[in-house]
Amino acid sequence: MLSACSGSQSSSGGEGEKKGEGKLEIFSWWTGAGEEDGLKALIKLFEEKHPDVPIENAAVAGGAGTNAKAVLASRMQGDDPPATFQVHGGAELNEGWVAAGKMEPLNDLYKQEGWNDKFPQDLIDMVSKDGNIYSVPVNIHRGNVLWYNKKVFEENGVKPPATFEEFFEVAEQLKEKGITPLALGDKEPWTATHLFETVLLGKLGAEDYTKLWKGELPLDDARVVDAVETFKKMLGYINEDHSSRNWQDASQLVADGKAAMNVMGDWAKGYFVNDLKLKVNEDFGYITTPGTEGQFMVITDTFGLPKGVENSEDVKKFLSVLGSVEGQDAFNPLKGSIPARIDADVSKYDQYGKDTIEDFKEAKLAASLAHGSAAPEGFVTKVNQAINIFVTQKDAKQFVDTLKSASSELK
Ligand code: GAL
Repeated sequence: MLSACSGSQSSSGGEGEKKGEGKLEIFSWWTGAGEEDGLKALIKLFEEKHPDVPIENAAVAGGAGTNAKAVLASRMQGDDPPATFQVHGGAELNEGWVAAGKMEPLNDLYKQEGWNDKFPQDLIDMVSKDGNIYSVPVNIHRGNVLWYNKKVFEENGVKPPATFEEFFEVAEQLKEKGITPLALGDKEPWTATHLFETVLLGKLGAEDYTKLWKGELPLDDARVVDAVETFKKMLGYINEDHSSRNWQDASQLVADGKAAMNVMGDWAKGYFVNDLKLKVNEDFGYITTPGTEGQFMVITDTFGLPKGVENSEDVKKFLSVLGSVEGQDAFNPLKGSIPARIDADVSKYDQYGKDTIEDFKEAKLAASLAHGSAAPEGFVTKVNQAINIFVTQKDAKQFVDTLKSASSELK
């Protein structure tokens, strides 16, 4: 079921009134546990600066936009766009809404705000098509993070695994002691795709991983097959009730010491710290997923200006706050992500944030498939479906064959 969830800033309006009418409607999937604190801080900052512009926090629950993307699609098709909406940089924006002619270019806003050298060029490229810039990145999330329960690791004398070999050694030792080594919550299948793409990154490296989604490397490459087999082996160490949990429920298992590790983007840190009140490097630790040291799975949440919105000047005011140092530093320490801007105030971030800000500067970047940056939505949907079947049936050949035939969706 879709559940539309409006934040405290919103009011539903009188009968017959169009949703969000007269208000600046901000559309995302950041509701509830671990997701909405950053957004609320950003809205608060905006309201301080622009008390005359009422905001409607129009968020639709469901991790990774599971439900929000469908609601957005029907609104966009019905020419009823929200004033601004969360969209991942890369294919989701460029091959989706920009290619469909639904977005306004923001080159002038970038110029006015002096942003062209304030965001890393790699990121500006992810939100650009044919020389125009179409959205403003609020953050950079890292996808290839393995989170672990410190106490469980210490008590069992195991070390955070850097390689696949070490991962399986640690997992085996923990399993022998009756501890679930790896938490997964794939009630929404994207979490399994997320885990799988980190395995692909570990086996192929950022460059070749990226080639896969450009159609420059076949999806039945021997290293992809190896990644599928490795992923399958990992599935032998997960919690039995994985298909009834969402990502927060899986992270909770690690927080409670009922599972030792999980692989999730760093929004999980927001959840651990803000919602569960855990401490970085005391209660939980972090390491890049096996084989991915020096590589960075990039997920960037961005906001743009859809064509045809009435209050476009107010949208630009919102984007200006979102793209400011102040806006980014209000949002990201709570969200778990690092600022997209290169000149943010590092002192506002915890040790995880500081480490990740440094890593981003040096690492090889790879755009996430699971979060829509690497490939068009049609392909991602097929991968999610195939993953869902694979997690139950574990038929590696069938999975690779499905990937291969879905690759016709890749440009
Ligand atoms: C990602 C998004 C993150 C976080 C996550 C879980 O797609 O980029 O900001 O919200 O989904 O819902």
